[in-house]
Amino acid sequence: MDARTLKIEAAKAALAHVEDGMRLGIGSGSTAEEFVRLLAKRVGEGLSIIGVPTSERTAKLCDETGVPLTTLDETPELDLTIDGADEFNPDLVLIKGGGGALLREKIVAAASKRMIVIVDESKAVDVLGRFPLPIEVNRFGLRATEIAIRRVAGELGLAGPITLRMTKDQPFVTDGGHFILDASFGRIPDPRALSNGLHSVPGVVEHGLFLGLAQMVVLAGASGARTILARR
Ligand code: A5P
Repeated sequence: MDARTLKIEAAKAALAHVEDGMRLGIGSGSTAEEFVRLLAKRVGEGLSIIGVPTSERTAKLCDETGVPLTTLDETPELDLTIDGADEFNPDLVLIKGGGGALLREKIVAAASKRMIVIVDESKAVDVLGRFPLPIEVNRFGLRATEIAIRRVAGELGLAGPITLRMTKDQPFVTDGGHFILDASFGRIPDPRALSNGLHSVPGVVEHGLFLGLAQMVVLAGASGARTILARR
């Protein structure tokens, strides 16, 4: 099965958890976009839901395909968020933000009763960190923020290149107007400690470690989609 087919398989399995009347958080990225297309089809067949998109790009796709949208201000409590991830570990801690939407993705997931993550099997790891950790930072004081990130990471024994994400020759700018630093720390054995350390840096707006937010991962592989539940 090719990568796109796996993403569609995961999205289909997650769609089975969507019920009439739900208030949905709608994720970002290529897997979430497959979910939007399937969801739009169900909406066309009569399913009644309202969605909060996690990025401008997802909002545009929802508009184009006919998925009804609201805002988190109008609908601040959601039933279910369905989103992709760049990595997940056996505790269902995620790395997200490869597409740059981590801040809105985290706000929406935190406003939801449940989060289901849709991924193909390439995203499963024992220890997080193969994927560079996206860190959303304020544009002001970028260099000072990077030094402070290095310091808190170093206190945890983590080090590695930290690069400013670029699009062509310009820094990538998030929907919130911030920059992203991608931190290649390698293995992150204690995501909670790193999360706390990063949150202690004033210039850090948010980071891509999602702790305690996902209850379920739908993992698509060659033999179909299977479900992994959080150990709680
Ligand atoms: C967007 O910022 C990300 O968090 C995505 O959810 C993540 O990068 C997964 O994207 P794909 O489904 O395209 O792999």
